[in-house]
Amino acid sequence: MKTHYYTATSLDGFIATEDDSLDWLFSLGDLNDSSYPEFIAEVGALAMGSATYAWIGRNADKVAAETGSSWPYTQPVWVFTSRNLPVIEGADIQFVKGDVRHIHNEIRAAAGDKNIWIVGGGDLAGQFYDAGLLDELIVQIGSATLGKGKQLFPRRVLSPTLRLISVRQISTGMAELRYEVGKNSVGSTA
Ligand SMILES: NC(=O)c1ccc[n+]([C@@H]2O[C@H](COP(=O)([O-])OP(=O)(O)OC[C@H]3O[C@@H](n4cnc5c(N)ncnc54)[C@H](OP(=O)(O)O)[C@@H]3O)[C@@H](O)[C@H]2O)c1
Repeated sequence: MKTHYYTATSLDGFIATEDDSLDWLFSLGDLNDSSYPEFIAEVGALAMGSATYAWIGRNADKVAAETGSSWPYTQPVWVFTSRNLPVIEGADIQFVKGDVRHIHNEIRAAAGDKNIWIVGGGDLAGQFYDAGLLDELIVQIGSATLGKGKQLFPRRVLSPTLRLISVRQISTGMAELRYEVGKNSVGSTA
């Protein structure tokens, strides 16, 4: 059982525009040509921040076109938020807040022998990294730059913490890099 941060990013390190648009992403490649089908088959539970959750709620049509369902996950999902948010129909959601270490134990119990997917955003993945709980970073790098936006991973992580274990070209629009995260260093906010 591992904890993965699996996401797509622009070439200049942003996972969404400043106003949370992902329109730049969908033209870059097809999910089914990426590692996503085998990745999601091994996921037992997910965690995401409230902006990511809100994006799925606002973009039900796009999500359905891309994945076949407006709520695409059959697994339980932990949504990190300090607010009271509505539950999206058909979703198995736990709303949680605070220290990711305690909540990680709960998520791990639900995931069983499968993996945990930290969907994003970057700072939430960073909170798991800071706590020494992130095992792998799997990043699909799109052939596009945004100039500014929501950061992929707002932490300073110096060599040799990240160990590149695979590189895969998906198309001319995307490459996927997979890193193991060493556990012998402490994260810091960039
Ligand atoms: N390119 C991709 O593949 C990809 C992947 C994932 C996400 N995205 C997009 O990237 C953007 C990410 O947005 P974001 O950077 O703002 O990140 P986010 O993690 O989705 O949301 C951040 C919010 O989550 C809540 N939160 C985070 N940690 C918490 C904690 N420990 N306890 C309680 N609440 C916590 C806080 O909001 P409140 O407390 O105010 O609720 C915080 O402002 C979204 O637009 C999303 O759709 C893109």
